Order: sequence, then C-alpha cells, then structure tokens
Amino acid sequence: MFNIAVAQSGGPTAAINASLTGVFSGAELCPDIDEIYGAENGIEGILNDRLLNLRNILMDEHDKELLMKTPSTILGSCRFKLKDFEQDEESYLKILDTFNKHNIKAFFYIGGNDSMDTVMKLDRYFTAQGIDIKVIGVPKTIDNDVTETDHTPGFGSAAKYVATSLQEIIRDCRVYSIPSVTIVEIMGRDAGWLAASSCVLRANGEPAPHMIYLPENDFSPEKFLEDVKQAQLRYKAVIVAVSEGVKCDFATDDDAAVDAFGHVMLGGIGKKLEKFVAANIGCKVRSIELNVMQRCSSHIASLTDITEAERIGREAVAAAIERGESGVMMSFKRISNNPYRCEIVTADISKIANQEKKFPKEWINPEGNNVTIDALNYFLPLIQGEPVIEYRNGIPVHFRLNQ
Ligand code: F6P
Repeated sequence: MFNIAVAQSGGPTAAINASLTGVFSGAELCPDIDEIYGAENGIEGILNDRLLNLRNILMDEHDKELLMKTPSTILGSCRFKLKDFEQDEESYLKILDTFNKHNIKAFFYIGGNDSMDTVMKLDRYFTAQGIDIKVIGVPKTIDNDVTETDHTPGFGSAAKYVATSLQEIIRDCRVYSIPSVTIVEIMGRDAGWLAASSCVLRANGEPAPHMIYLPENDFSPEKFLEDVKQAQLRYKAVIVAVSEGVKCDFATDDDAAVDAFGHVMLGGIGKKLEKFVAANIGCKVRSIELNVMQRCSSHIASLTDITEAERIGREAVAAAIERGESGVMMSFKRISNNPYRCEIVTADISKIANQEKKFPKEWINPEGNNVTIDALNYFLPLIQGEPVIEYRNGIPVHFRLNQ
C-alpha cells in the first residue's frame, strides 16, 4: 500500500475542483492506494509539508458532487517556479522529504503551462535520482493556451460565462436611442482564445460583439477607431470584445507588476480604449472588465467542461498507477465535432512546459477584427450543457473547507 498527493496551481477556474474530485475518485478505486493527500497552495504545500487528508474531507458522494461544482481551488493555489535541480537541489530535497515521510508514490499537479514546468522538473529529478515517484500533469486554465491538448478544462466554463455575460451586456447597451460604444475586456494573457470565444453568440443570430481583438494580431489604435466608426454606420450600440493581452503603445503600463514566471499582470486595456474612443469620437462609451468573474463563476458553468475535468482527473490516476506513466500531461484529443467526442491521451511534458498555444491566425478574419466560422465550430461543443446546481437560501451552495 502507498499514498498519493494532488495539488492545484495557477489561476482559478470553474473546473479545477472537478479535476481534483476526479483524481480523488480515481484513487478511491485503486486498492493499492491508502491515503489521498491534498497539498495546500500547490507545490508550496509539498515544500512545507502542509497536507490535508482528503479522505477525511470528502466523506460521501454529496461532498464530491458539491466540490465538482465549486469554482476556484479548494486547496488554494500558487505561482511558484522551481529552479533547475542542478542549480538548487534544496527545494527538491524538501519535496522528497515530504513524499518519503508520507509514503507518497504518485503526485498529480493540476495547472497550466507554468505548472507543467514543475511537473517536468520534478519528473526529471526523480528519474535522475532513480526514485520511483510518478509525476503527472492535469491541465487547467481559462486561457486555453496549453499545447498538446485540444483544449483545457476550465476554458469551456469561462467561455460560457463570457458569452452569457456579453449577451446580458448587449441587452443593456441597446436601451437608449443615442449612439454608444461598449468595450468588454476579456482575460487570456498572451492568447486570445477566451476573447475569441465570444463569437459563439453568432450561433444564435446575434451579430455582437461586432469586433473582436486578439493578442495574436497587431493592434493599431487608428485602425480600431476606423473599425468603430464603420460599425457605427450599421449599429447604434457598438459592442467590442478585446483581449487583455492586446499589444499597443498604450496597452501595458511600464511599471506593471510581474509574477514568478515573469508574466506581466495585465488588465486595463478596456479602460484605455474607452478614453481613446471618448477623446476621438465623443459618443457615450463604457468599458467593462470581466476580471476574475470569468474564471471563478460557476453558476453558468459548462456541463461538458465540468464532466471532462472530472474525467481527466480520474484518467490521470489510471495513467500513473495502472500504466506506470510519469512525466506526462493528460490531454484531450478531439475525435469529432458532430457528435462531439474527445479521447483522453497522455502527452510528453517537455513539449508543454512553458510553451503557449496561440489562437490560430487562420481563424482570424482578413480585417483582423473578428474570427471565422472555424473558430465558432471549435468553441461550440465546449460550452454545452449546464450542471444542476444545489441552492440554499436562494444562493448556490459551495463546498468549503472548515477554514
Ligand atoms: O490563469 C490565467 C489567468 O487568469 C490569466 O487569464 C490572467 O492574465 C492571469 O491568470 C492573472 O493572474 P493572477 O491570478 O496572478 O492575477
């Protein structure tokens, strides 16, 4: 008998707890696994021996059901970059101490491309030392920018939230008789997947957002202004979706903070474009930053996303324990769109860690201000279905640790 550990890392999503539930349920089915530990705040919890025994926390099927639908990371998260072990072995020895102390033979790290760097480094270290501890990455991110997988858990729910919220914003924007411009800023760091996904409203005959701007394309403020003026010839209320990562002279503040992986902490392009439109067009203009709501909202989550997130967590346990895999990330391979079908396979972690999967240039229209039908067809299956949510006093019930 041996034990396993699981941790969550990077920015929250609506589905990351579903993957945790999946790892837990997968482990429950393995007769050789005794305790199932959850590390607090990602790899920091392993480094500092802060482990929770999940068997004492997830007591029954109802707990698991609730956790699956609870957004964000129940165990907490981190943005922690391990140095290479050749440079600094101390952290690796601390991690090994924790694993040995608790007889942990497999570690599951739920995270994005930065977290996969940790998976890769740990696996390399254990392999180099001849230590048999399996390390498996389980993807997640609303940014959908992880390579070697069709999409990432968490993205579908974020996309569904963005589209639903945009549709509501559109209802609000259209009430007055005067011309207006509304700019909605959407997360995604350096990849435009989430902003692009706002095109799904088209499937229901909604032409807005009339323009979509992504970091994958050069952004010219002058061209943007021209696009807005053109759209105003057709629409009284012009609605624009813009990715937070769009690059232009006034997009990023020189003194913007950076995280442990050197990523600039973004946010604010919408407000800047609002001022730009106000100064140059002078009509009613408003910007809306969806901010963390798009990654921690679960009341309009995608059932497809939550179900897949749970499944990929379960499969991770099978990969490590039944098939003895390590140094891999679980990944989705899309088999067909209609009917939508995805297989779960494993991918070499060295092709994933620290890489970024950009939105395909060929899915951007020639004008550089919208996306094509191929993008729509890719996104639609990922936002299908709604989980049944339990309510108490009119409010969705979340699973909470006794903190
Ligand atoms: O995890 C992805 C993400 O949500 C990005 O979309 C966003 O740019 C970034 O994280 C924000 O980082 P933080 O959680 O550190 O504020």
